[in-house]
Amino acid sequence: MITRNTAAEISRLDRYFDVERVRSDFPILNQQVHGKSLVYLDNAATAQKPTRVIEAINQYYRWNNANIHRAVHQLGERATREYEAARDKVQHFINAAYREEIIFVRSATEAINLVAQSFGRSRLQAGDEILISYMEHHSNIVPWQILCEQMGVVLKVIPINNAGDLILDEYERLLSPRTSLVAITHVSNALGTINPVQKIVAMAHNRGIPVLLDGAQAVPHMPVDIQVLDCDFYTFSSHKMMGPTGIGVLYGRREWLEIMPPYQGGGDMILSVSFNKTIYNNLPYKFEAGTPHIVGAIGLGTAIDYLQEIGMENVALYEQELSAYAAEILAEIPGLRFIGTAQEKVGVLSFVLDDIHPHDIGTILDREGIAIRTGHHCAQPVMDYFGIPATARASFALYNTKAEVDALATGIKHVRELLG
Ligand code: ALA
Repeated sequence: MITRNTAAEISRLDRYFDVERVRSDFPILNQQVHGKSLVYLDNAATAQKPTRVIEAINQYYRWNNANIHRAVHQLGERATREYEAARDKVQHFINAAYREEIIFVRSATEAINLVAQSFGRSRLQAGDEILISYMEHHSNIVPWQILCEQMGVVLKVIPINNAGDLILDEYERLLSPRTSLVAITHVSNALGTINPVQKIVAMAHNRGIPVLLDGAQAVPHMPVDIQVLDCDFYTFSSHKMMGPTGIGVLYGRREWLEIMPPYQGGGDMILSVSFNKTIYNNLPYKFEAGTPHIVGAIGLGTAIDYLQEIGMENVALYEQELSAYAAEILAEIPGLRFIGTAQEKVGVLSFVLDDIHPHDIGTILDREGIAIRTGHHCAQPVMDYFGIPATARASFALYNTKAEVDALATGIKHVRELLG
């Protein structure tokens, strides 16, 4: 059993916010799994939802449900107002310069596909190069591979080192006159590495190359200021930041979005249609074909309200301290090896344990009520780099506690006793 001055540690964490009060905002956390208190440590896969978000969804369907941008009736007006207010909330949350730079899509994945098919197909030519990295999620690999097949574009890959950091000298070397786009994750879902994205953007912009950042694992855990990052595209998903599933955001610099063709055709993205000529709608609607996920956007806006009240600086500091504690505690377990030890990390701890298969670790921990993710985390090249098929991954959110970290450590030791 690991002993620590847990009470003192928790009171230090209380500097940022009252975690017990935060936990009471998440009804799902208050349950037993296999007769044990749930310890939910799979937040990089999806985060839990506060009551306020659940209620906003309920209220919308109970009182305000109507289609948007179409009706003059009261419900239509309410639904439209709430949906567009959510866009304003996203704009302010990431400090985008203009509200029309915020496009609602299904997910970060769809946002990247949109950029590949709209920006990529209209602006790139055979032989042009797209630069990604070894630590990308499949969502930031496969859309570009599809584009390569369609257009003869070439994919180049920035290598990583044993700590799970990008090798910036190699990045610099790979930036060539043929490089037409850099597409890099802000934070690695498999390793937790926070990439030096401001520097990465500046290095590309010095050569006139636009940059897309995949922010799916960053936005829930730290303040993000688009104007400071100065990137051209930024993508993220609602469900990892305590909003509903099925809704995500593409931020695009207005100058690019204006010259990019639509990704999908249909209602809402047109001003007029005839068989001779269709005139597309203005931004952001040009990229929002069909009835959107109205309640999803509203739920995301409510999640943003919730996170802003706590303060993203506080979230970042709390999670940093919690994951530093977890790294220290887990490092004491014999046979445990971390995969991803970069200096700058979010609360993602990937590890292997002796030669025990990660799925077995996950299954035994589940019997203790502890939920982690095991597998390749949709980042198979990362697994190939480290010569392993999979890892076990604990990923933290603002409602996790040091007591839960202790429970994880005890659970892993139990796994070792059973299978080591
Ligand atoms: N991309 C999500 C994860 O890392 C699903 O688990």
